[in-house]
Amino acid sequence: MTDELGEDGQPRPGIDTTVPHSARIWNYWLGGKDNYPVDRQAGEQTIAVLPEIVDIARASRQFLVRVVRYLAAEAGIRQFLDVGAGLPTVNNTHEVAQLAAPESKVVYVDNDPLVLVYARALLTSSPEGATDYIEADARDVDTILERAAATLDFSKPAAVTMLGILPFIGDDDEAKAIVTRLFAALPAGSYLAITHSTSEVSGERVIEAVRQWNAVAPAPYTLRSPEQIAAFFTGLELIEPGMVSCPEWRPEPPDAGRVQRMDEFCALGRK
Ligand SMILES: C[S@@+](CC[C@H](N)C(=O)[O-])C[C@H]1O[C@@H](n2cnc3c(N)ncnc32)[C@H](O)[C@@H]1O
Repeated sequence: MTDELGEDGQPRPGIDTTVPHSARIWNYWLGGKDNYPVDRQAGEQTIAVLPEIVDIARASRQFLVRVVRYLAAEAGIRQFLDVGAGLPTVNNTHEVAQLAAPESKVVYVDNDPLVLVYARALLTSSPEGATDYIEADARDVDTILERAAATLDFSKPAAVTMLGILPFIGDDDEAKAIVTRLFAALPAGSYLAITHSTSEVSGERVIEAVRQWNAVAPAPYTLRSPEQIAAFFTGLELIEPGMVSCPEWRPEPPDAGRVQRMDEFCALGRK
């Protein structure tokens, strides 16, 4: 990693390599290289309790690919607001969307300074489309909507993707208010995609992994039940197959025949 260093060779402001960061730990589980020893240590601690976390991270990313492809190729969506974008990896939202529809516009949002440093890789749009990056906390809905409006036309349907971010908003009412306010800005025909961790499948092991995570990570992590996750979609029509474990959402070959349930649930709703 070199991009996190400024021109003077010093770490850029805002990048703290002494505390683990969720985006970098997630990157570690996904097999990426944009992480520090402190992140790998925290990531390994989770793996020791919950070895399937690596499969969970990858299944969640594979859901991103399937849902964005569905939205662009089948639902005709051309605008995406990806809140909690994460560090760039393979198959970023704009790459999947623009493969299906090159004119797709994607605005990424994240509050981790390291994601901003790497945002260049999220800004490699097709010539026909556009991408932008907003460094903001998801709680700052007004800023997000105002800045996203420079790229996205909120008079036309769009998709909001909140993949893996809502567990970081522990208060149910606050999380619901963020989703509701973001989605209220969008017209009928818009979509909301969410992935969220549960303890539905692995029970106490997930709860213990989260307990250990919360002892070292600065942003506490909250598990929710499928019913609590479904509450984010109140008033929306859930697209088939509804609220399911990520690998069960419209699986594709070669996985279609051997889908394994795991503690990352997802759904896609339509206004
Ligand atoms: C588990 S990662 C998921 C990344 C990507 N969406 C994916 O599905 O692969 C969660 C991301 O949410 C970001 N995040 C957490 N809390 C946030 C907040 N309050 N505001 C904005 N981003 C946040 C983290 O920095 C991290 O990049």
